[in-house]
Amino acid sequence: MVRLSLPLLLTGAASTASAYMQYYTVTGYFLQDVNSTNATTFDYTATNFGLINQSYPTDSSNAASLTQWQRFAAVVANLTKTAPSNVQYKLLFLGRHGEGWHNAAESYYGTPAWNCYWSLLDGNATATWNDAHLTDNGINQALKANHFWLSRIQQEKIPTPQKYYTSPLYRCLSTANLTFSGLPLPANEPFVPTIKALLREGISEHTCDRRSNKTYIHSQFPTYKFEPGFPENDQLWTGITAETNAAEDYRSQTLLDNIFSTDKSTYLSFTSHSGEIASILRVLGHRTFSLSTGAVIPVLVKAEKMMGTSTITSQAWTPSPHCTVPPVTSISSGANGGCVCPNSAAPVTVTLPPFAVST
Ligand SMILES: *[C@@H]1O[C@H](CO)[C@@H](O)[C@H](O)[C@H]1NC(C)=O
Ligand SMILES: *[C@@H]1O[C@H](CO)[C@@H](O)[C@H](O)[C@H]1NC(C)=O
Ligand SMILES: *[C@@H]1O[C@H](CO)[C@@H](O)[C@H](O)[C@H]1NC(C)=O
Ligand SMILES: *[C@@H]1O[C@H](CO)[C@@H](O)[C@H](O)[C@H]1NC(C)=O
Ligand SMILES: *[C@@H]1O[C@H](CO)[C@@H](O)[C@H](O)[C@H]1NC(C)=O
Ligand SMILES: *[C@@H]1O[C@H](CO)[C@@H](O)[C@H](O)[C@H]1NC(C)=O
Ligand SMILES: *[C@@H]1O[C@H](CO)[C@@H](O)[C@H](O)[C@H]1NC(C)=O
Repeated sequence: MVRLSLPLLLTGAASTASAYMQYYTVTGYFLQDVNSTNATTFDYTATNFGLINQSYPTDSSNAASLTQWQRFAAVVANLTKTAPSNVQYKLLFLGRHGEGWHNAAESYYGTPAWNCYWSLLDGNATATWNDAHLTDNGINQALKANHFWLSRIQQEKIPTPQKYYTSPLYRCLSTANLTFSGLPLPANEPFVPTIKALLREGISEHTCDRRSNKTYIHSQFPTYKFEPGFPENDQLWTGITAETNAAEDYRSQTLLDNIFSTDKSTYLSFTSHSGEIASILRVLGHRTFSLSTGAVIPVLVKAEKMMGTSTITSQAWTPSPHCTVPPVTSISSGANGGCVCPNSAAPVTVTLPPFAVST
């Protein structure tokens, strides 16, 4: 498992010492944590969000009248109550956005041709995938999540998120809106998501990874809050170099450190992307688990503040080869990541100084 860590400043008396957060996935409660669960066929709506049917040591004498989610909430409450002061537990509901026009285009053109040519454009003659919106299929996937949340609230009395976080990309802003609209949420924990810059997708040269400006986002989603310091314009996407997995994991750890050190609540919702959720799962020490568009999984996380320092620093980004005209073939692997351009055009590669994520 990839375990990354980075320095955090301790507050209070020991402020000269340094500490870092170590994250763990607490297994034994969810099907998605079990090796034998196939992510490709897993359906969160057919499995109660994957919560395994079982009894717990914390079950009370009236357990028979309580739902699995109510009894699981007692487990989480006990973990929290009995945790040492440097340990906290949170349940993260990780939701992938519904299908966007960029997903449809990747299927339409095939992944290699998409990666080495079409993804660099804003769209084609009939579809736009620059900061892609949801397709009708994607809207229906988000509505399915909405209906499922309603059924869990009504039938299972599931603990609903106390805080909502979303990626700044349009497909996630829309998915969160559709997923959490009209639900009977507690009055003191309404759906007012915070837009987190670092919850965005892995930042490739693809135009679907470039976000819109803050003014436009606010005009489209006026009830959403921006995290402090959210810049007007996208300062991370360059269109020239791409974040590597290691660079993305550093970003994900930075995001988690920020949330775990500022948010005292236990149940959180993240609306994000396949690549970014995969990165968060790596940082959490979770097994690989790919979410299909619109899918949601909960992960029980233990975070432990450790003394010491880490040598992990931000990582360089790299350029990806691409073609300046549509590729002649579309192969899944090989030199230049399967990017095979017509003879008249060799794959374009750019060498630049490392571009580091600034936070
Ligand atoms: C699950 O798979 C991982 C990686 O293959 C392995 O290290 C681990 O032992 C497995 N766990 C169980 C309980 O089989
Ligand atoms: C998971 O399910 C898919 C689709 O049915 C199948 O192609 C794949 O082989 C399965 N993976 C494993 C590890 O069984
Ligand atoms: C637990 O049991 C209920 C029915 O009693 C079923 O609907 C649900 O899918 C089961 N959950 C899992 C994870 O097997
Ligand atoms: C509560 O958690 C503590 C620490 O994990 C454990 O020792 C104890 O058995 C739990 N209580 C119950 C009732 O399960
Ligand atoms: C543009 O791409 C979309 C997929 O995003 C596809 O459905 C459509 O057919 C394409 N249009 C043209 C003119 O190729
Ligand atoms: C979703 O967006 C629509 C259209 O902007 C808006 O009327 C509605 O209040 C939003 N719902 C939520 C829960 O944010
Ligand atoms: C923000 O984005 C919108 C939509 O793309 C655009 O019309 C507007 O000019 C942009 N505003 C600024 C200040 O760049």
